Amino acid sequence: MRINTFNFSAKLGLSGFLITVILGALSAVTLIGLLYSQHDRGFNIPEMDRVQSHYNDSQLISAMKGTMYQYVTEDGDIDIIAKWIADGAKDDDFFKDEVMYIIGEDCQKCHSRNSQMSNAMPSMPFSSYEDIVQYTEGGYSWTKMAKTAHIHLFGISVFLVIVSLIMAHSSYRSWIKTLLISAAWISLWLDIGSWWLAKFYSGFAYVISVAGGVEIGAICAMSGLCLLNLWFRLPAVVLEPSDHPPQ
Ligand code: HEC
Repeated sequence: MRINTFNFSAKLGLSGFLITVILGALSAVTLIGLLYSQHDRGFNIPEMDRVQSHYNDSQLISAMKGTMYQYVTEDGDIDIIAKWIADGAKDDDFFKDEVMYIIGEDCQKCHSRNSQMSNAMPSMPFSSYEDIVQYTEGGYSWTKMAKTAHIHLFGISVFLVIVSLIMAHSSYRSWIKTLLISAAWISLWLDIGSWWLAKFYSGFAYVISVAGGVEIGAICAMSGLCLLNLWFRLPAVVLEPSDHPPQ
């Protein structure tokens, strides 16, 4: 059974699915580009130091380098808070004199339970040691990791198995199918596994970027190739010898 022999309605249904998968992948690429760059529109290339900060730094530092950077008075403030966290984020004099001073000047006008600012964040107050210390864990917390990982793994596996099966029933040479199907699954595990590893070794941020790129590339390539196979006659070099179109 080959997808190019399906009847018109089946081809129509499969095409709708494959086009939707490509649109979903493009939306993911847009989001990743926006999260890891300074831009707020369009397609962007993710910046490595932002990816590294997101997966390796604590939420406090990652926000000060990223979304909350505009409120940081001096770059040195980030280093002081990073040093406090690296030294164990203790409730000591350094915290009371240095860290609380910076937070008080830069952040508390919005991050307090009774802030009057129009774009305040009273649900995330930074009023005491206990308030602040919970945002000092490096990278994803275990809870956030478990939550994000299972949603991604279940969600992606459902559409990836369908794309893989459509690819498997296409007319392409078997090495093309094996290559793309394996690349998509292996890069999925590498990507999500590295979110976790990057918490401990920031170098895994590179694996996240490369594996994520391969994953999206393989998914789009399979979907695009299957769409071509459904509707067009393809050159013999890419087809299994037994599948050459009748001359
Ligand atoms: C003008 C108000 C304002 C100031 C000043 C401010 N924040 Fe925020 N902050 C917000 C709002 C609103 C949100 C939630 C929406 C968002 O993420 O942009 C937020 C979210 C956050 C988050 C969680 C989201 C994330 O990006 O990780 C952290 C952490 C954070 N702020 C830290 C800080 C720190 C540290 C400072 C001081 C350097 C600071 N904020 C200064 C308003 C503010």
